[in-house]
Amino acid sequence: MTDQRDSAPRAPEGVDTEKPSAARIYDWYLGGTQNWAVDREFGRRMEQQWPLVRPGSKQNREFMNRAVRAALRAGVRQFIDLGSGVPTAGNVHEVVEAELPEDHDAKVVYVDYEPVAVAHATLILEEGMATDWAGIVQADMRDAKSVLRAPETRRLIDFSQPVCLIMAAVLHFVGPDDDPEGLLAAYRDALAPGSWLAISQMSEGDGAGEMLEGLRWFVEQYRKTSNPVWLRDRDEIEPLFGDWPLLEPGIVHLPDWRPDRKINALEAEARPFAWCAVGVKPGA
Ligand SMILES: C[S@@+](CC[C@H](N)C(=O)[O-])C[C@H]1O[C@@H](n2cnc3c(N)ncnc32)[C@H](O)[C@@H]1O
Repeated sequence: MTDQRDSAPRAPEGVDTEKPSAARIYDWYLGGTQNWAVDREFGRRMEQQWPLVRPGSKQNREFMNRAVRAALRAGVRQFIDLGSGVPTAGNVHEVVEAELPEDHDAKVVYVDYEPVAVAHATLILEEGMATDWAGIVQADMRDAKSVLRAPETRRLIDFSQPVCLIMAAVLHFVGPDDDPEGLLAAYRDALAPGSWLAISQMSEGDGAGEMLEGLRWFVEQYRKTSNPVWLRDRDEIEPLFGDWPLLEPGIVHLPDWRPDRKINALEAEARPFAWCAVGVKPGA
């Protein structure tokens, strides 16, 4: 992946460019442009110690895109993307536009607590003339009520119909004190039968050796920031789906969920360090 310029984009109101932010660092990992020197410096330090962070981020994004396409092909038309971030490409509404005819009836709600993510999403939705059917809510996803009851959520989402709820690379910012199982239950309960839940989560997985050591160092660094990271293993992810059956192939590493391309050697090294799965609410 090529590096970005060292000039900063214009900072939207409320954006603190003195402290690194998880959303902007992740944008840098993906090769985006919504990041500042402080984010890039943090990102570069992470990459030096754990060179798998960029291929891992890309695999995460690709999993999310494949899950959205699968939901669309199954007839789901509503999406809530928790911790949507600022990625410059591969956003849910872009996948929708690529998959469906122009007069589609899909709806998309992005949710992030980071002001730059909100500013960026607002801009790309306005530029793409998508604000009628897609919007962003600035909220902490650990407060399910504030997400589900936000005016923008209520404007766009019909909770009597299935929703695809996406939690891609966001649950590692939800720690044990945040009651992850209770939180997931609150979201699952609010959704209609036939709804989808797509989760990806960083993990020590079945990683080993230097790369596992690097990941542990990476997690330690994030623990010192305002966005501490928590890893979860496979057996901690399954309960997050409650009684929702998992779609094939179940809980797998990111590139193994319904793959549509071959991965390279570096991507293969990143494979062990995250899990993903998609479940569907029974009773439809
Ligand atoms: C690693 S990025 C993932 C972006 C996107 N979901 C993806 O998978 O490509 C994590 C995002 O989650 C956001 N985030 C972290 N904790 C959050 C919270 N409690 N509420 C809302 N957003 C959160 C961060 O601001 C960041 O934009």
